[in-house]
Amino acid sequence: MKKVLRILGVLVVLAIVGLLAFIYVPVQTTPPKEILAADGKIEPGRGEYVMRAGDCMACHTATGGSPLAGGRGIESPMGTIWSSNITPDKETGIGNWTLDQFRSAMVDGVVNGKHLYPAMPYENYRFMSESDIQALYTYLMNDVKPVKNEVQATELAFPFNLRFGIRAWNWLALSGDSSFKPMEGGNEQQLRGQYLVEGAGHCAACHSPRTAFMAQDGTRLGDANFLTGGELDGWSVPALRGPNSGIEKWSTAELAAYLGTGRNVHAIANGEMALAVEHSLQYLNDQDLNAMAVFLKSADGQAVQEAPKQVAAPGPRPMPAAPADEAGQATAKMLTAASPDMPLGARLYLDNCAACHFVTGKGAPEIFPELQGNAMVQGKDPSPLLSVILNGTSVPSTDRRPMHLVMQGYSDRLNDEEVAALASFVRSGWGNKGGEVSADQVAKVRSVAVQH
Ligand code: HEC
Ligand code: HEC
Ligand code: HEC
Repeated sequence: MKKVLRILGVLVVLAIVGLLAFIYVPVQTTPPKEILAADGKIEPGRGEYVMRAGDCMACHTATGGSPLAGGRGIESPMGTIWSSNITPDKETGIGNWTLDQFRSAMVDGVVNGKHLYPAMPYENYRFMSESDIQALYTYLMNDVKPVKNEVQATELAFPFNLRFGIRAWNWLALSGDSSFKPMEGGNEQQLRGQYLVEGAGHCAACHSPRTAFMAQDGTRLGDANFLTGGELDGWSVPALRGPNSGIEKWSTAELAAYLGTGRNVHAIANGEMALAVEHSLQYLNDQDLNAMAVFLKSADGQAVQEAPKQVAAPGPRPMPAAPADEAGQATAKMLTAASPDMPLGARLYLDNCAACHFVTGKGAPEIFPELQGNAMVQGKDPSPLLSVILNGTSVPSTDRRPMHLVMQGYSDRLNDEEVAALASFVRSGWGNKGGEVSADQVAKVRSVAVQH
């Protein structure tokens, strides 16, 4: 008995020492991945471009606040995490930071030994090159206006308030070192696309599933679940790879146009993706948009499909709506016949939607999106579709497509049963393969919309 107690005692002491070591042994940070010439010039505009590619604005600008001055609340299952002021203000921003401190925030998620919450996507930014990190640092320090803004402190519930716990999380979440691993046999364009998608673009933050620890399940191409679809605040985020992904059927040019303008002949970017286009992707040049599109379309070894140099050539040209194809014919025929005994969902579609999306479900290229084969319409979780029907949606205006398209919502006109019937119809019409929607599901989405 005594011996057992002694062993137990030793174990407890070991555990305590281990925990203290874990808490107090200084956190290692990653040194520069390459040594750049000290007198190396950064091309004008480069740092700002990297900031756009990384979409720092989206999280580091509060609604109505100064750019990059922080204070935007990021909702997480553990509570609200407030983004930091990253303007060069010396008291409340990063004005006193060295490049090394900045690099460790971007690559290790560590600021002066303190761990950042992974709401800051360092899981992805860690793959950025030293020269991009330096250009970004130089831009933030010299070209951004310092703004004094004391950001609200993040106070999560125990045990998530113990930031040292993130250290253990990082061991579990961050696989391998932070060097960029070029795809095998990739040409220059594919590698540039891979670099942007995996690093600054942090596409995996939304488009990869999450592990049991809420880490990104797949941050780079070698990972099995990389970009196979995720979930965000209860919205399903489409897969960007694999035979069932929507983009599998898009051309490289169509994909590049979606990224640069938030729209193409097939779909429209809504919600978080519309924001990514508005604040980040539309600012990327044609070369980089094409590179990302080429990389995504060839990520699983498909032949590289080139795109025209110019992304989303001026337009949209008045293109005739496509006729119904084989899969869509039966539905188009039923809607055209408009017989009085049509099912409720189809009748509601004809009355409310067909004027723009047409009986073919094909819409009008780049203006009224195609509902046939649309990833959002058929999504496993119908909430995004229900939200569009109830609340409407809008596509931002971009330089390449300077027009703001709005679809009005139908929450005042249609009740829950009607929206459910309508949604079930569009999810199964024209060969679509989405499941039935219930009135309860509609009520749930409606109640969220009312709260906001
Ligand atoms: C998805 C949201 C998101 C994006 C995108 C994002 N950040 Fe952050 N960032 C955060 C949050 C949230 C914090 C605060 C985390 C915490 O308190 O632990 C943070 C913290 C930081 C910090 C630490 C500041 C400090 O004072 O501790 C730096 C530096 C930073 N971000 C830089 C950037 C840069 C540069 C970009 C663009 C390349 C960027 N972030 C993009 C959410 C984001
Ligand atoms: C903040 C979260 C977020 C980030 C970051 C993000 N996306 Fe998305 N993305 C979404 C959501 C949500 C949708 C679904 C939009 C909709 O239903 O209209 C989407 C849709 C898409 C689609 C349309 C797919 C389809 O089948 O309709 C493409 C293509 C896409 N994203 C590419 C990218 C790329 C490339 C990146 C990185 C450069 C990226 N996304 C970064 C959230 C995000
Ligand atoms: C007056 C024209 C108009 C009518 C009527 C209309 N829509 Fe739309 N719809 C649009 C436009 C424009 C967009 C794209 C721009 C946007 O997102 O605001 C859109 C977008 C959508 C999307 C998002 C598609 C995607 O790729 O993300 C869905 C789903 C949709 N509509 C379904 C419907 C349904 C169902 C109805 C009937 C209740 C309907 N629409 C009625 C014009 C219309």
